[in-house]
Amino acid sequence: MLTSAEAAFKQRYPEYATTHHLDELRATEYARLDKLGYIYLDYTGGGLYSESQVRTHTDLLLNNVFGNPHSTNPSSMAITCLVEQARAYVLEFFNASPDEYLVIFTKNASGALKLVGEAYPFEPGGNYLLIFDNHNSVNGIREFARARGARVIYAPVLPPDMRIDDEKLIGYLEEAEPDNHNLFAYPAQSNFSSVQHSLEWIEHAQTHGWDVLLDAAAFTPTNILDLSRWHPDYVSLSFYKMFGYPTGVGCLLARKTALAKLHRPWFAGGTIEVASVQGDRFFFHEGSEAFEDGTLNYLSLPAVENGLRYIAEIGLDTIHTRVRCLTGWLLDELTSLRHSNGASLVRVYGPVNTNMRGGAITLNLYDPDGHFIDHQLVEQRANQVNISLRTGCFCNPGGGELALGISAEELTSCFIRVKERLTLDDFRRCIDTKSTGAVRISVGLATNFADVYRFTQFAQQFLDKKATEI
Ligand SMILES: Cc1ncc(COP(=O)(O)O)c(C=O)c1O
Repeated sequence: MLTSAEAAFKQRYPEYATTHHLDELRATEYARLDKLGYIYLDYTGGGLYSESQVRTHTDLLLNNVFGNPHSTNPSSMAITCLVEQARAYVLEFFNASPDEYLVIFTKNASGALKLVGEAYPFEPGGNYLLIFDNHNSVNGIREFARARGARVIYAPVLPPDMRIDDEKLIGYLEEAEPDNHNLFAYPAQSNFSSVQHSLEWIEHAQTHGWDVLLDAAAFTPTNILDLSRWHPDYVSLSFYKMFGYPTGVGCLLARKTALAKLHRPWFAGGTIEVASVQGDRFFFHEGSEAFEDGTLNYLSLPAVENGLRYIAEIGLDTIHTRVRCLTGWLLDELTSLRHSNGASLVRVYGPVNTNMRGGAITLNLYDPDGHFIDHQLVEQRANQVNISLRTGCFCNPGGGELALGISAEELTSCFIRVKERLTLDDFRRCIDTKSTGAVRISVGLATNFADVYRFTQFAQQFLDKKATEI
């Protein structure tokens, strides 16, 4: 069955053959997946590291003496040199000119977003515009904006494809007063629907007086972000999403002109050139260092460069092609699954073809009578057969609410009854006629056909079963 399905898949997607190098890597660098019987379908949650990344980094640590950077002693100089080398390579990887962009290392993408949120000069008359389809770490910036009197505006995306409502967004972009500070934030790729929102919005927004914050966390693992072609003011990302190891490091790529606009609300060790207690003054460092609080995760930064070089050697084009073919096949197979009465088993939230979308598929399963099958139950069943997928709303409540048809009125009437705290269970009971979450499967550089085939086999166990019986 698997072999005949794979042969048919390869006929339908002949370009998949160009990615055969990734099958070799699956057998060598990611052998643990098959050895341990894992079907890993959560690449949007986190990428997987290769064995060689870990070995290269371990060798480096075992054969050197590294101390806290930014001193002239030899152990400090040794790591400072590697940190700066990693910083320069991040720019090179994203084709960003060092004259235009700076790299600020952070804990993760959320850390990069918070740096912008807390330091952007929001003020009355200014705006924070974002689309419904954003990660909570982008949504959270609205609290900084509101606290400082800026207007917060959400531009909708339209189900079922979950793409931006162009007309509405253009209208909002045209409302800005260019003399005020206006920040527009959106994801290059949605972590809910996997829609790739056009990068053309960057320049369009900038010409109307907006600074643009591009959240590239879900985009960069399988797509080229060329910062000589696109010029967002701020870019956030996490490296573990691209190549699995190390965790705990992300970055903010910022244009120098945009960075000059930010006013940090505090100073910390590492960020200042001079600070005085009795003189009650402080003076920030120039550039990146002014934004890197305390000691960097310095031992991990050489592993970031290794990881990027590993991806560059494979080629993001190859990874992209692989992910597109597997996603296309999954979409075709899953949307064609039907109960005996003809009703669809799977409802996909987002585009059902591979045009301008990434490798995550967010869906719910429905029984023959059209009742949803609880996503948590699907997850439990998947866990039993060693399939790693993710359920919920993936920290993207706006995408979830629109996709699942949960209205503003329903949410308000639910929240109005709450005094202090609302647990997820309370929330689920509040919105009890609808699913409050979905199932997300996502493929990446080490996925092969067998993985996606097994997921379609897994889904078929729900055919012709009533939701109440499962
Ligand atoms: C689109 C998007 N933005 C931001 C984040 C936040 O990343 P992190 O949790 O690494 O800070 C994620 C993580 O899932 C994401 O998918």
